[in-house]
Amino acid sequence: MADPRYIAGKKPHPRERRMIFRNVDRSGWDASIATYRKDGGYRELKKALKMKPAAVTDEVKASGLRGRGGAGFPTGVKWGFIPPDNNKPIYLICNADESEPGTFKDRYIIHQDPHQLLEGILISSYAVGAKVAYIYIREEFPEGAVILERAIEEARTAKLLGKKILGTDFECEIYIHRGAGAYICGEETGLIESLEGKRPYPRIKPPYFPAVLGLYMCPTIVNNVESLCHVKHVMAMGGKKYAQLGTPRNTGTRILCVSGDVQKPGYFEIEVGKLTMGELIEDLCGGMKKGRKLKAVIPGGSSAKVLRAGETYTIRDGDKEKTIGLPDIPMDFDSLAACGSMAGSGGVIVMDDSRDMTWVLNNINTFYAHESCGQCTPCREGSLWMKKITDRMLSGGGVPSDVETLVSVGNNIAGRTICAFGEACAWPTQSFVAKFPEEFKKHTSRRNIGKALNPETKTASAGLGD
Ligand SMILES: Cc1cc2nc3c(=O)[nH]c(=O)nc-3n(C[C@H](O)[C@H](O)[C@H](O)COP(=O)(O)O)c2cc1C
Ligand code: SF4
Repeated sequence: MADPRYIAGKKPHPRERRMIFRNVDRSGWDASIATYRKDGGYRELKKALKMKPAAVTDEVKASGLRGRGGAGFPTGVKWGFIPPDNNKPIYLICNADESEPGTFKDRYIIHQDPHQLLEGILISSYAVGAKVAYIYIREEFPEGAVILERAIEEARTAKLLGKKILGTDFECEIYIHRGAGAYICGEETGLIESLEGKRPYPRIKPPYFPAVLGLYMCPTIVNNVESLCHVKHVMAMGGKKYAQLGTPRNTGTRILCVSGDVQKPGYFEIEVGKLTMGELIEDLCGGMKKGRKLKAVIPGGSSAKVLRAGETYTIRDGDKEKTIGLPDIPMDFDSLAACGSMAGSGGVIVMDDSRDMTWVLNNINTFYAHESCGQCTPCREGSLWMKKITDRMLSGGGVPSDVETLVSVGNNIAGRTICAFGEACAWPTQSFVAKFPEEFKKHTSRRNIGKALNPETKTASAGLGD
């Protein structure tokens, strides 16, 4: 059934390079296996099955593909961490939790091109030696889960799943596991705990690196939806040719999800690093909203540190260093890291000069306070304290020491927790306060004490004391 939210026939922007999203919004396209196969689908699986698994991994290594789920870790290198002398089952998990605020790409792949994902999973499972793969899909994607179930049934009927796939000795089953609606289930070890039927408390690394001690303490490869789709294209092009897309160390294409105060928010697939932040905002997104100026950008999902318009950064350009402004930042992993933030999950949140940064941070803090799994004290308590402080700043009860307290709470979370959620919730506070100190100071005059805007905020302020 056609989904009215998709615009069939919508043309990609001329500066896009659509590979993963080739079929998204494509006229006459549907999610069936018949359409996919008519378009050459499952050809790359056939190609991979004629190769040795290690040779497939070598192609992925040669491609330079880096994970699109957040950390940007090289996919082939991760696969290589499975112990060579392993005699336990190996699992592959497709992370379809897509819960990072600002990120909305994986859902379109699942909805409109599910067989591309299944083909990527099958090739990857073959390469790493997994006979069972799971797709962990977030609770909030019920239609996505149904679409994937249907695609799996189609693939099974076509003998692309089960034993003797395409007449070879390769066997593989893919199962869907629906989450129960928690952001922390996107963190790979929390996801694994959840898949085992437990509360999703992340595991400490080391020793629990999934490639060594993952699902049921067996070697497990966890990859993002988009990363797994790229594997199919690496097979189609060959690793070396794929590596020519994008820029060295930042190869291939990636999907950027732009939201916020631009004329045309949406998803755009670009060659990594071939476009700057300014080009993304001005050309692809049609610029800022009418009469508004750029104030700040969160470049890689809500966990990424905020960048302020007008600031400058020093990045490497070959052997030299150069100073650039926010609009000049190439949209790639290394440049965004050099500018003090990260490419993360590709969720670019653009803010204009109408935004109150204390309000924005409060919005983010509210999310993290709600989503902390509660396992470690700094994160469980600190995320809530940061929310409560920004709550009371906004309700007029802020005190001068709040700015310092906020930063101190953030500093005492980052680096002191079991999983990277600690950094994810501390970095917004640390960066927003460092970059917009005047906005936070503005909310510390206690001008409206006693006139809290809502009962929840009033309780929170009272609980904090001075
Ligand atoms: C708090 C937290 C939430 C995460 N959420 C997601 C998510 O929703 N989807 C995802 O693919 N990766 C998420 N990640 C990253 C995963 O832990 C893991 O690195 C990723 O799935 C690996 O895939 P990749 O190498 O293909 O990027 C999250 C990480 C953290 C710390
Ligand atoms: S850092 Fe936060 S989310 Fe991660 S394990 Fe600790 S309490 Fe849970």
